[in-house]
Amino acid sequence: MDVRDAVATRFSCRAFLDTPVPEPFVRDILARAARAPSGGNLQPWRVYALAGDALRSLKAEVAAKIAAHPELLPRGEGAEYPIYPPELKEPFFTRQRVVGRMLYDAIGVAREDRPGRIRQYARNFEFFGAPVGLFFTIDRSLGSPQWSDLGMYIQTVMLLARAHGLHTCGQEAWTHWHKTVSAFLGLPDDHILFCGLALGHADPDAPINNWRAPREPLESFAIFHGFSPEAAPQS
Ligand SMILES: Cc1cc2nc3c(=O)[nH]c(=O)nc-3n(C[C@H](O)[C@H](O)[C@H](O)COP(=O)(O)O)c2cc1C
Repeated sequence: MDVRDAVATRFSCRAFLDTPVPEPFVRDILARAARAPSGGNLQPWRVYALAGDALRSLKAEVAAKIAAHPELLPRGEGAEYPIYPPELKEPFFTRQRVVGRMLYDAIGVAREDRPGRIRQYARNFEFFGAPVGLFFTIDRSLGSPQWSDLGMYIQTVMLLARAHGLHTCGQEAWTHWHKTVSAFLGLPDDHILFCGLALGHADPDAPINNWRAPREPLESFAIFHGFSPEAAPQS
């Protein structure tokens, strides 16, 4: 698959078929993704891959906690890092609202339907039905440049998944269950959970998969200086 097709066809998939993903595929993706660059070649990523009984067991643990205390949602055990700044300024606030509206419109959940929104949000903790759940962690001593490196690793995983016909969804929501996840994984104290990633075969018929988050035009975020007119790239 051409890298441009991998980029163009990736989207955050929030409904998966239960078709298993064999371990060699997951190993191949995670190993190849380590070609991602990192400042100083620190390679600050660590990844935990769950499937089968391990995945079922973690999901059951979280589901039991939610069933016992539904009022804990959406915050769960509390995020271990601020996913967004407390005051999300423009244009970020509006972009977030737009994508939220598109997501909930796709599944017919009205803006004022808080239980409906929370139900959808809780699907995060089922990995949206994916047969593989990944967790990405990083050493606590590292800073934002290394978190950025981890992001590049994760994006490379997402694009390599496309080469196998697979889809993904990044899941910062898992930080809300960081205590449960860290204990389940046996995460060392010096590591912090960044996010989860659902991995599997997309359910093509699920309405939640059948919309696309918009992007701003190139002119709004790229500034060019000093170029001379050249032939356009072939698409
Ligand atoms: C690091 C990261 C964490 C994310 N966390 C969540 C999440 O917890 N739940 C969710 O439904 N989507 C999550 N997303 C998906 C974003 O909402 C999505 O990437 C964005 O709206 C753009 O849509 P697209 O990925 O379909 O192009 C996350 C994405 C990234 C990169």
